[in-house]
Amino acid sequence: MKIAIGADHGGFDHKEVIFKHLKDNGFEVVDFGTYSSDSVDYNDFAVKVATGVSKKEYDRGILICGTGIGMSVMANKVEGIRAALVHDLFTAEATRLHNDSNILAMGGRIISIELALQIVDIWIGTEFSNEDRHIRRVKKINNYKGE
Ligand code: RB5
Repeated sequence: MKIAIGADHGGFDHKEVIFKHLKDNGFEVVDFGTYSSDSVDYNDFAVKVATGVSKKEYDRGILICGTGIGMSVMANKVEGIRAALVHDLFTAEATRLHNDSNILAMGGRIISIELALQIVDIWIGTEFSNEDRHIRRVKKINNYKGE
């Protein structure tokens, strides 16, 4: 599985640890930055990671900012992206089973690195349920173009 990862300054520390964790576990991971704790705009990293996932250059993306909110809102503007903001183990699994989320967003100022690693492992390790009702609902997300 190819994974794209990105963060702003609020998620930088978590991103560094998650990147190493995924590499150590044999995943192909590309780090889109940021590469220091200097203040940056989360938008730019969300778009880079989301575009890579949208173009199918990566299977999944992980985005971390202070709250995860800016990252998830921005990533969801990119065609084909279903970014899920997750801060607990239940929704880490549920969003893969139900929403087939292709980007995981988390808040580095909200959860510990230890919890973030557990969330990543569950989210990466859970496949979409492929149940008819969830397929139908994901299609409704994908096909909705707005008013
Ligand atoms: C940066 O201060 C902060 O606004 C950002 O990391 C994120 O929480 C935005 O949603």
